[in-house]
Amino acid sequence: MKDKKVFVCTECDYQHPKWVGQCPSCKKWNTMVEETYQPKIEPKNTRTSIISDFSEPVLFKDIEMPDYIRSTTGIGELDRVLGGGIVDGSVVLLAGEPGIGKSTLLMQICSQLENTVLYVSGEESKGQLKLRGERLGLYGDNTYFMTETNVDNILAQVEKLSPKVVIIDSIQTMFDPNCVSIPGSINQVKECAIKLIATSKSKCFSVLLVGHVNKEGTIAGPKVLEHMVDAVLYFEGERFQSYRIIRAIKNRFGSTNEIGVFEMTDVGLKEVPNPSEVLLSGRPTGVSGSCAVCVVEGSRPLIAEVQALVTPTTFPAPRRTSNGVDYNRLCLLLAVLEKRLGLKFSQNDIYLNVVGGLSLDEPSVDLAIALALISSIKDIPIPENVLAIGEIGLAGECRSVTDMQKRISESFRLGFNTIAVPSKSITSDLKIPNDVSLISVQSIYDTLKLFKDNK
Ligand SMILES: Nc1ncnc2c1ncn2[C@@H]1O[C@H](COP(=O)(O)OP(=O)(O)OP(=O)(O)O)[C@@H](O)[C@H]1O
Ligand SMILES: [Mg+2]
Repeated sequence: MKDKKVFVCTECDYQHPKWVGQCPSCKKWNTMVEETYQPKIEPKNTRTSIISDFSEPVLFKDIEMPDYIRSTTGIGELDRVLGGGIVDGSVVLLAGEPGIGKSTLLMQICSQLENTVLYVSGEESKGQLKLRGERLGLYGDNTYFMTETNVDNILAQVEKLSPKVVIIDSIQTMFDPNCVSIPGSINQVKECAIKLIATSKSKCFSVLLVGHVNKEGTIAGPKVLEHMVDAVLYFEGERFQSYRIIRAIKNRFGSTNEIGVFEMTDVGLKEVPNPSEVLLSGRPTGVSGSCAVCVVEGSRPLIAEVQALVTPTTFPAPRRTSNGVDYNRLCLLLAVLEKRLGLKFSQNDIYLNVVGGLSLDEPSVDLAIALALISSIKDIPIPENVLAIGEIGLAGECRSVTDMQKRISESFRLGFNTIAVPSKSITSDLKIPNDVSLISVQSIYDTLKLFKDNK
């Protein structure tokens, strides 16, 4: 009998017999994908959850304190993002573009962990794994490798070996023989993940799942996968640059703002404990259009360089490209600068770039973007020792940002002694090092002072 097809929404699981552009249930666009129809069998009194310790309701005071144990991965930058290491029995999803280094990072963890690890690859042969392991210097007397895609066979081996950590590379290649859909489809990814997570919670081993991303940059498969796991980490970076950043999007056992920075080398991923220094190396001097900024990622301040290039346009509609900063944010700042300062950006092409493949979504980067743009259009360089921090509002006002003390200390440590900050952020409890002078910026008009003095 021919399999019946159905269209399933990746966001809310709604099923529809025909393809539609907008999901009739959650109203999201372009989320319907074709699947093999599976009748939903929901026998009465059957629990459909991944947590096994169901019980009668209990009073909060009577719940026993669990003793969560964290195992360090041996890789400081990864531990930082996880909130101090992997919690035993937790499930972590590591997502990233093809070739970014997901398998490399997980294999590096294997050689650092002291407990038994089971590494399951559904994508590469044992020979390929051996080659990579040799290159990374993996000695591996605690890691079992297995090339398998059938989730039942994997769980049988888990039963036999009782590993403390199971690595699944990748969840999209796994299949559950009881589910009729093809591997990688929404149903399969969901079913396999449920089986693995349920077993990990009952047997108390940690699972690290590799997740592919689709062309929009989100994790391929059902959205519900992100809800089921304890932590979701994204591996980012420019394909052709060697720096890689791990960011936590969700973490049930730690903060979500932390980032870990790595450099891809021929012997694997190397930690970068001082990313600011790396990001500033090779900075041009005496050139217009460059401004430094200090952002705070989690608990760590990070210095980045924003570069702008403003050139007269030859196109009927001027070009705007933005790399590392939200495109709409750039358009908004251009509109503010044009309206408030009368600068003619509309007659110019504009290219904006954050050096090092970093993506900055914090509002504190606004002032540095504005300064880089003004510097480029006026062709007046900003002195190397100047750094700018602040959010810009639509009226051209400069608004205060959080963690000012941390930002000033880090900026000073890296040799910036003239820091433009929102006037509201200069409070009496701010400790300013002796050699640092602060430029108080109340509105975007105050930034013009910087260019007059340096003409
Ligand atoms: N010999 C080598 N020297 C330096 N870097 C290498 C070498 N071999 C591979 N790489 C780097 O490792 C990256 C591939 O890493 P890895 O296979 O871990 O990525 P992945 O995210 O698992 O990819 P996929 O999604 O295809 O599984 C390459 O893009 C390259 O940057
Ligand atoms: Mg891989």
